[in-house]
Amino acid sequence: MKNPFEYGGIVRADAFCNRRNELDQVRRSMENGDNLFMYSERRLGKSSLILLALSELPKSDYRYIYVDLWPTNSEADFIGVFAKAITEAFTSSPEKMLEFGKQFFGSLRPVVSLDDSGKPQISFGVAKNNPSSYSFDNILEVPQNAALKFKKKVVVVLDEFQQVLSYDSDTAERRLRSAIQKQNEVAYIFLGSRKHLIQKMLTDRSRPLYRAGAHLMLRPIDKKHWLPFIRERFIRTNKQIDENCISKLIGLTEGHPFYTQHLCNTLWELTEPNDSVSEKTIDDAVTLLLEREDYAFSTLWESLSLNQRKLMEAFAFGESGSKPFSANSIQASGLKTPSNVQRALQPLIEKDLVDQEAGSYFVLDRFLRLWIQKRANRWLHSEPT
Ligand SMILES: Nc1ncnc2c1ncn2[C@@H]1O[C@H](COP(=O)(O)OP(=O)(O)OP(=O)(O)O)[C@@H](O)[C@H]1O
Ligand SMILES: [Mg+2]
Repeated sequence: MKNPFEYGGIVRADAFCNRRNELDQVRRSMENGDNLFMYSERRLGKSSLILLALSELPKSDYRYIYVDLWPTNSEADFIGVFAKAITEAFTSSPEKMLEFGKQFFGSLRPVVSLDDSGKPQISFGVAKNNPSSYSFDNILEVPQNAALKFKKKVVVVLDEFQQVLSYDSDTAERRLRSAIQKQNEVAYIFLGSRKHLIQKMLTDRSRPLYRAGAHLMLRPIDKKHWLPFIRERFIRTNKQIDENCISKLIGLTEGHPFYTQHLCNTLWELTEPNDSVSEKTIDDAVTLLLEREDYAFSTLWESLSLNQRKLMEAFAFGESGSKPFSANSIQASGLKTPSNVQRALQPLIEKDLVDQEAGSYFVLDRFLRLWIQKRANRWLHSEPT
C-alpha cells in the first residue's frame, strides 16, 4: 500500500492539511487583483498553497502566470523566465506560442521546441550584457495587456522572490513596484522563503517594495488540524494512531508541515498493517531519521564555534534560551556579555540555522533541533556521577 504521507514536493488538494483561512485570503487577493507578499521559513507550504489556490480558479475567467525565480541570477534571466511563463499561460499550440511570443516579445527572439514528452515550450534569447535588446518596462506591461486582449483576469505568482536580491541592481524591484501599482487587472503574489530577506525588502522604507502590498506570513499548522489529518490517513491504510501519539509527534515537529509529513511517513513505514503506533514507534522513527542525518548534522556542528554551539543548544531546548539577550539566558548559556551573544548569533541567522519571532529564537531545522537535544542528553547521561 502507498505511504499516505508526502514530503519534499508540492502537495496537491488530496494531501493538503487545512490552511482554510490562508487560502481564503489568497483567493480574495486573486479575485480583487491585489498584490500580496507571502513569506515563511523554508518548506512551510507556500508553493503548495499557492498552486492549490491557482488550480481552483475558474479557467473560463482566469489565466495564471507562475514563475519560479530560484534558477535566476540576473535581470536578463528574470526576463527570460517571465516571458516564457506569460506565453505558456496564454497559449498551448506551437503556432500560437510563436505568434504570441513575436507579438509581445518580438525583440527577444522567441524559439519554440518540443520537450521530451512532446509538449511545446518557448524560450527567449536575452543578451545579459546588452540591455537595449529588451525593455524591462515593456515586458512588465504584458500581463496587463494580455489580460485586456484575452478578456481574462490574470494572476502573476513570483515564487522564490528573494532571489532578486542577488541581482546586480534593484532594477527588478523598482520596475515591479511601478508596474504592479498601475495594473488593476492583474493580481501579483510574491512568495519568499527567507523570512528575514523578505522582511528587509518590505519593511525598509528605502527599498522600492516598501508597503507595496498586503503581507501574509505562513505559520506551522495547528495540532487541531493535524489530528484528523494524520488519524484518517493511518485508518485509511489499516493502521492506527491515537491522540496521545499524534500530540507527541506534533510536539517534536512543532507542527511544521514538512517535518510532520516526513516523520509521519517514517512512522507509517515502521508500523505493520493492522498495528497501532506506540510511543516506542515514535522514538524509533526519530532515531532512524536522525541517524540518516547524523553525518550532515555532525559536519555542520563541527563547523560552529563553541559560543555558537552554546546558543544552538539553548535554542534547541527553548524557553529561557530562546531569548538569548536576557540576563538569565546570558548567564545560563555562559556567553557572559550581550556582545558575545550578538557575535555568535549573527552567523547563525545568516546561515539560516536560526530565526526569531518577537525576540524569541528557534532552530529552523526541526530534526537538527532534535539531534541537538539528543546529543546534549547523551552527554549529560554519560557524565560520571
Ligand atoms: N497544507 C499542507 N498539508 C500537508 N503537508 C504540507 C502542507 N503544506 C506543506 N506541506 C508539506 O511541506 C512540504 C513543503 O511544501 P512546499 O514545497 O509547498 O513549501 P514551500 O514553503 O514552498 O517550501 P520552499 O521554502 O522549499 O519553497 C510538502 O512536500 C509537504 O510535505
Ligand atoms: Mg516553494
